[in-house]
Amino acid sequence: MAFFSKKQTKKAEEVDFSNLPRHIAIILDGNGRWAQQRNLPRTAGHAAGAETFRKIATYCRDIGLEYLTVYAFSTENWKRPKNEVDTIMSLLEKYLYEAIDRMERDKVKMCFFGDTTVLSPELQELIARTREISLHYEGCQVNICLNYGGRDEILRAVAQYAQEYKAGTAPELTEESFSRYLYSAGVPDPDLLIRPGGELRLSNFLMWQSAYSELYFTDTLWPDFTEADINRAIAAYQHRDRRFGGIKP
Ligand code: FPP
Repeated sequence: MAFFSKKQTKKAEEVDFSNLPRHIAIILDGNGRWAQQRNLPRTAGHAAGAETFRKIATYCRDIGLEYLTVYAFSTENWKRPKNEVDTIMSLLEKYLYEAIDRMERDKVKMCFFGDTTVLSPELQELIARTREISLHYEGCQVNICLNYGGRDEILRAVAQYAQEYKAGTAPELTEESFSRYLYSAGVPDPDLLIRPGGELRLSNFLMWQSAYSELYFTDTLWPDFTEADINRAIAAYQHRDRRFGGIKP
């Protein structure tokens, strides 16, 4: 833990930009409560949340973050009222249309974690186009988790491995080889996992990948989340002592 004298006290959001986490994961939570506090429909909270996502993703790209993963729609979110689900899906469509337009300029690589085969044909088409266009970009990689559940991801990976095992083509089973069966294949585990919105749980997000992630919880509702909030989270991360089960040398 760094020690600062009174004179040198660092501001909570003071970040060492030369030593950023490689991968930040965020649970986009608090949209509904943000809307309720303003007597607005929950869907207005999701629209505000989508704007915040744009702002934070742009900021992460600008500071040179390598990977950003966001939990936008879980396998459990289908239980919500139809108009809320429809609104989230159309906000995603709108976001992807704009992202495709700006991709050449932004050079952000976009990937999707989750079973996207059940989404509308329009959304699937947009996802396919986004994937294809951004395939060769090497800037910040933004992973959007859609119809994603951590347990579901692990079960699918096990099923795929078992199939290959039966066919005699499976590799030796190690943590490293198993990781290649997950949606996140090739992506390093998140160093920092942020949950705004005040809840203290992971809600089935990146269950395998978050084994050693540093967790950061804040009461700020996602639509209110700013660059200063992500700086605070990164600064807190930079003061953590990561030992991965070992001891300090
Ligand atoms: C959780 O807040 C949020 C969601 C289930 C949806 C998140 C979706 C978006 C921000 C829109 C589109 C996303 C992108 C990436 C463009 P909640 O509704 O559970 O909030 P509450 O806990 O306050 O009710």
